[in-house]
Amino acid sequence: MDKVMLKDGIHWVGAIDWNLTNFHGYLTQRGSTYNAYLIQDEKTVLIDTVKAPLFDEMWTRVKELIDPSKIDIVVSNHVEMDHSGALPRVMEELPKAKVITSPQGEKGLKRHFKKDYDFQVVKTGDSIKIGKRTLHFFLTPMVHWPDNMVTYCPEEKILFSNDAFGQHIASTERFDDQCGWDILREEAGKYWANIVMPYADQVQTALKALGGLDIKLIAPSHGVMWRGMIPKILGEYQKWSTNTTEPDRALIVYDTMWGSTERMAMALRDGLLSAGANVTVRNLKHKDISDIMTDLLTSRMVLLGSPTLNNGMLPSMGAFLTYIKGLKPKNRIGFAFGSYGWGGQSVGEMEEVMKGLGWEIPLEGAKLKYIPDDKELDDVKAIGRKLGERLKGGR
Ligand code: FEO
Repeated sequence: MDKVMLKDGIHWVGAIDWNLTNFHGYLTQRGSTYNAYLIQDEKTVLIDTVKAPLFDEMWTRVKELIDPSKIDIVVSNHVEMDHSGALPRVMEELPKAKVITSPQGEKGLKRHFKKDYDFQVVKTGDSIKIGKRTLHFFLTPMVHWPDNMVTYCPEEKILFSNDAFGQHIASTERFDDQCGWDILREEAGKYWANIVMPYADQVQTALKALGGLDIKLIAPSHGVMWRGMIPKILGEYQKWSTNTTEPDRALIVYDTMWGSTERMAMALRDGLLSAGANVTVRNLKHKDISDIMTDLLTSRMVLLGSPTLNNGMLPSMGAFLTYIKGLKPKNRIGFAFGSYGWGGQSVGEMEEVMKGLGWEIPLEGAKLKYIPDDKELDDVKAIGRKLGERLKGGR
């Protein structure tokens, strides 16, 4: 098996989930990995485990390095079952091992597995000596569950960051410089936009707490490890956690019944382009909402379009807005549009959601009855141009 050495005595022993296409509703077209790490010192430490069905893959890697019964300590940085699912099997093999976790981690693991392992509960500032190395613990609550923590080894300058800095990518490459920045940025961004985004303030707190550490390798729990691109990914996390977007980028998200709202979307696109804005256009029938969130991550302006159906917006837009209400993107400029036959309530409904997110709505939404004519589409294009000028004006 392809266990990978990080440093002498420290190996990646995780599992690769080549077939994962959906991670609780988020499309993972590139699959994923669940990263576990083995540290061999005077004490032998396993940092995190893997999803339950992949226990054998992880254990085979461990066995190629050591007799697994020699593991003294399992560090559980996070309760979620992609990292703790195999813990019960691990603990069947290691009944005497200690489980180091956060206060919420202990509670969460007990709720999940109904077992009272030999827990050692740690908090920020605590550390343990495992031989020539030490492990320091930092609680990172709500990045992205209450129990999350990270583990730092100062002698090796390695941060075991769990979900933070992760990407859903299945690959045999284990390091950033073996993959290429564009793919990594896209997948780390998608991970942020779909999982971490609601906890931007907590990430800011965590980045400040970890800011003083000398880090040469970030070993997350998904995807590849960061060694050559650490300043780049830290820079992206800084931007994402402060809701910093591309100032001239607009995202149009719409669905359509008989094509009228789509024609409005294209007129808005043309108007935005005529003002020099960058525009991404996504039809909810053809794009998954988790991919649209990656577009939204970098877009300063978001234009939402739905016709009115049964006195409200289309269910596809309703699902998207339910999703973004939970993810809470901030600091956006919004605009709503849509065609209607007799009610026309969809535009107001979409505006209400955007206002609830605290977005600025500089212009009244555009509604057109049945099929737009050329003059009406010119008017919509003029609105798009105004919105584009607003973006280009940088306000
Ligand atoms: Fe990768 Fe929150 O689990």
